[in-house]
Amino acid sequence: MYHLFAFCLNIFAFFLPLINCSEKDCINLDVTITQKIENLGFHRDLNWLVETQNLDPKTSACSVALKLNIGQGMFVNPDQVDDLRRLKKLDAIIDGIVDIEAPAHEATKHTVYIFLNGTQLLDKIALKLPIHLRYQRSLIGGHGKVILNKPWLLVRCPNSIICGKDRKVSAPISSKEAESFVVWKNISYKAQFDEMELLVPVGNLNDYAYVAIITCILGCAGCVYILSLTTAEDNEDNKK
Ligand SMILES: *[C@@H]1O[C@H](CO)[C@@H](O)[C@H](O)[C@H]1NC(C)=O
Ligand SMILES: *[C@@H]1O[C@H](CO)[C@@H](O)[C@H](O)[C@H]1NC(C)=O
Repeated sequence: MYHLFAFCLNIFAFFLPLINCSEKDCINLDVTITQKIENLGFHRDLNWLVETQNLDPKTSACSVALKLNIGQGMFVNPDQVDDLRRLKKLDAIIDGIVDIEAPAHEATKHTVYIFLNGTQLLDKIALKLPIHLRYQRSLIGGHGKVILNKPWLLVRCPNSIICGKDRKVSAPISSKEAESFVVWKNISYKAQFDEMELLVPVGNLNDYAYVAIITCILGCAGCVYILSLTTAEDNEDNKK
């Protein structure tokens, strides 16, 4: 029994340096993301602060991107994203078709990719993305809830490996080559926030118009009904 134990220990001792070696070679990424949402109502600004601790100089060769899945309840405006990209404020692209007029129940999902320059990871990176909540149809009014997903942190390094579990995600290589998808590594980060539910007012003026039309139709139907009754009575009176 003791011999078996010693044998195992030896084998372990033999492989330990190999394990250490591969661990040492990989880049340790320690990223924290903070999220804040500005404004209320239908138009919000999503603010992220991406901070990297003990940054490895090798990451300057890496590409870094954020991927945000946008659900039916909200949208990112493609024109706005194009403007931000042209003004070099945000290197972002949208994957998917965005109908900015569609109400929540008729809308389709889309994805936003924001590309961060690898060398910028040395500092804190502050990002601002405008999002818009979609109008939700309801006759009751009050507030609807929309879930805001957490962004995914994607990293791609040409000549080095990032430590940690390998979770591969396919995403565009850059904003300039939005059509060419490559494999990125989905990195886990420390999120200084929880998945959020945004409140969206429902039953606004459009709804009132909708209610008004129905009221009007019902009212008219009532008038026609009463009129038909009186005409019927008149007819009967005439018969007598
Ligand atoms: C990243 O930014 C630095 C300095 O702003 C620039 O020199 C470099 O070319 C950029 N790299 C990429 C991949 O855009
Ligand atoms: C990517 O990472 C996020 C956490 O940052 C996780 O919620 C998501 O499920 C991951 N996706 C894949 C495909 O691994």
